[in-house]
Amino acid sequence: MNDKRQKPLSTEPYKGVRDFYPEDMYVRKYLFDVMRTVVERYGYVEYDASVLEPTELYRAKTGDEIVNEQTYSFTDRGGRDVTLRPEMTPSVARMVAARARDLTFPLRWYSIPNIFRYERPQRGRLREHWQLNADIFGEAGSGADIEIISIARDIMQTFGATDADFTIRINHRALLNAIFSDYLGISNKQADALAKLIDRKAKLPHEAFKNQLTDIVGDKADTVLDCCETQTFDTLLARLPEQFNDMESVAELHNIFSTFSQEGATNVVLDPSLVRGFDYYTGVVFEVFDTNPGNNRSLFGGGRYDRLTEIFGTEPVSAVGFGMGDVTIRDFLQTRNLLPEYHSTADLYLCTTDSSLIGEAHRLAHTLRTKGLKVELNLSDKRVGDQIRIANKKAIPFVVCVGPTELETKQYKVKNLATSEEITVREEEIHEAIQVPKG
Ligand code: HAM
Repeated sequence: MNDKRQKPLSTEPYKGVRDFYPEDMYVRKYLFDVMRTVVERYGYVEYDASVLEPTELYRAKTGDEIVNEQTYSFTDRGGRDVTLRPEMTPSVARMVAARARDLTFPLRWYSIPNIFRYERPQRGRLREHWQLNADIFGEAGSGADIEIISIARDIMQTFGATDADFTIRINHRALLNAIFSDYLGISNKQADALAKLIDRKAKLPHEAFKNQLTDIVGDKADTVLDCCETQTFDTLLARLPEQFNDMESVAELHNIFSTFSQEGATNVVLDPSLVRGFDYYTGVVFEVFDTNPGNNRSLFGGGRYDRLTEIFGTEPVSAVGFGMGDVTIRDFLQTRNLLPEYHSTADLYLCTTDSSLIGEAHRLAHTLRTKGLKVELNLSDKRVGDQIRIANKKAIPFVVCVGPTELETKQYKVKNLATSEEITVREEEIHEAIQVPKG
């Protein structure tokens, strides 16, 4: 029995997570459907794993900020350290490493897991989100990088976005490391600190960034700033010593930029200040940015990580992929009016002029369902006008009324609620008269 004096429980969900009412679920399903459709066009196959992982999985290479400040971790009843996954990459690397001998490479795998990070909830950042992960394993050449970036671009286009709506910023970890050591001549320790600072560049005021930069690299601060602000790959190369032209990372970037420019893409650009916070990236890294000045933020990103499987003691398997969150993409599509209008699952609402006819309506609904229609029917003794109002509120596109005349003549009026158009058809033609709008 409930203690009457007890304060009623809150109906709010836990901080930073969402309930998905049917309208929200409709959007989520739409996002997932587009993601799935696009990655499957490229032959990607779906995998999944548990949300629970041993905490040590993330200690090696996920990066300090996530591991120390953002994981949901606990000790289970058997004394094991457990973490709710803060990203999918270590899990999929573990799965690939476990069966590396038996799998047929290259693998093209995708998943849409929910991810947990203890972050300060704000626009675009929650404590639970869903994230499409698409990754290729066992393909070391830049063809795989190009495929992954093309998929990211294709998903954006399939959502209805144009090149003007988003930018794909690209950098290369190996090139960045070479700039640190061979061009700037700084130590590994300085390079680590510099990479972390550059990663936070967009979040810091210019002056603060410059001061911290000077603390790390002294009088080389202006050179670093120049590099960070270079707009094109050719300008950056012109600035660097000639030996850089022979580097593999430079050849890879050339290949990527020339492929996209030949395709006519105008939004694939170099960003020498792009780092991405994970320690496991080894090659190309990229991030997709919203071009709306009011929402100039990263929508999603990824990169190449050729050595992550080594943490499992197996041979390194080259890999490249990205993670695309549902929160940022939903906000992006909403601000650009690119989300579909909500429709109920049902195509048709069957009304009855009298509750004694509900049995007949059941029979008709059953027949129509066998023909592929999704049918909801009135079970109440409400007036027909009220039943139609309900159908309208539920965003069910069509109604058909079952009354004595209809049952006798076997002729029914199919009404389109959006246009108020009505056509009369024979019972066996109802399913053909219903043209359901595609979401
Ligand atoms: P990430 O950049 O940490 O990369 O996350 C990828 C995307 O997930 C972000 O760009 C954003 O869309 C979304 N996201 C991340 N954290 C949150 C949050 N707290 N709330 C809402 N959305 C969020 C990774 O996780 C890499 N493991 C991706 C990857 C796959 N790299 C290679 N393969």
